[in-house]
Amino acid sequence: MTEVAAAKLKLWRERPDIFVREVFDAVPDPWQDAVLRAFPHNQRVAMKASKGPGKSTVLAWLAWNFLITRPHPKIAATSISGDNLRDGLWSEMAKWREKSPLIKDAFAWQKERIFSKAHPETWWMAARQWSKAADPASLGNTLAGLHADYIMFLLDESGGIPDAIMAAADAALSSCKEGHIIQAGNPTHLEGPLYRACTSERALWHVVEITSDPDDPNRSPRVSPDWAKEQIAKYGRDNPWVLVNVFGRFPPSSFNALIGPDEINESIARRYRETEIRLQPRILGVDVARFGDDCLRDDTEVLTNEGWKLFPDLIGDEQVLSISPNAKQSLWKPINEIVSYDFDGELNEYETRSLNFSCTDNHRFLVRSNPKSKKYKLEHYKDLPLDFIIREDSGWVGSNPDHITFT
Ligand SMILES: Nc1ncnc2c1ncn2[C@@H]1O[C@H](COP(=O)(O)OP(=O)(O)OP(=O)(O)O)[C@@H](O)[C@H]1O
Ligand SMILES: [Mg+2]
Repeated sequence: MTEVAAAKLKLWRERPDIFVREVFDAVPDPWQDAVLRAFPHNQRVAMKASKGPGKSTVLAWLAWNFLITRPHPKIAATSISGDNLRDGLWSEMAKWREKSPLIKDAFAWQKERIFSKAHPETWWMAARQWSKAADPASLGNTLAGLHADYIMFLLDESGGIPDAIMAAADAALSSCKEGHIIQAGNPTHLEGPLYRACTSERALWHVVEITSDPDDPNRSPRVSPDWAKEQIAKYGRDNPWVLVNVFGRFPPSSFNALIGPDEINESIARRYRETEIRLQPRILGVDVARFGDDCLRDDTEVLTNEGWKLFPDLIGDEQVLSISPNAKQSLWKPINEIVSYDFDGELNEYETRSLNFSCTDNHRFLVRSNPKSKKYKLEHYKDLPLDFIIREDSGWVGSNPDHITFT
């Protein structure tokens, strides 16, 4: 980098936001500026973002900044797949290289390696891939082998990258003069490096959150507000896909959970003085179960128009043999909804010669619990007396021939 004055290199090193303007003639969006400015002062930076605000671009700008302003740096970059790395970060590296005669002159660009023409062995950035089938030890080697004073690890789409990938990167930070791990991704998974950076390892990371929420004044200007509004109108604000891709927020831990990690982090960070809340109304939070606990175990069989099926094998378009309290005979009925959830508690085991099942206390059965009455009623299992009769027959329509001939 002899052709750039030392004072300029120092400025670019301390102010990557100025570097981007001067070298690429680009104007970063406000949140991109914030990341560029935070970079020199933070070992670990995480961008937790909605879809398309320009995060691979920031990774590429920082990679070029590191390659230009540090002596003999080594960078390893990875993403959720080789194709994604090639189409995303690697092509952004090429795009911005094209805009800078200085970079084009000093660095060669190849499909899996970018290197200084003057020092190809010691001054480079490498693309690294990993296999979804690999064991944790092999995954840990993805980012191994960077021995230098100035090292950097880039993880694009880190929402879907397994934790094990970080092993070598974390270890390498302790044995260099200056090391950085920079990750960017959509918060798609409740595990992996992005999730950890935003939850259990929050104190170690400088986290920048980027939303495309059309109602947020700080939203990414790069994502069309019409697109965002359309997704919200189509799927709703609470839809997990919208949460991740439009709002850049983690989805709740499961579809029937109300509170996700983002709400928990926000409430931990919230601080009120006694005087601020003394006169506020007291609001009680109640954990309301969405589906109650009216369930049978998943090894229960149900009679469908396609034969007996276990609950987990139901697709949803079958007809199920059903009976209602007042009907004389059973009917084939469509399935309204398949509800499946984890249950932590005691189940009731029931076994007779003709019937066995395991159910929650609140599962309802069509029973006759009073022997004097002929009426069947829906009752919760927990309210049943010791003796009860489950309706087994359901009547049928047809003729009753004297003889049947089998052929
Ligand atoms: N400040 C900027 N000035 C000019 N172009 C930009 C800027 N930021 C991003 N871009 C361009 O916008 C496009 C989208 O950016 P990028 O691919 O980085 O988004 P992303 O957040 O990584 O998207 P995805 O969620 O699809 O991975 C790219 O063509 C990129 O070069
Ligand atoms: Mg990208």
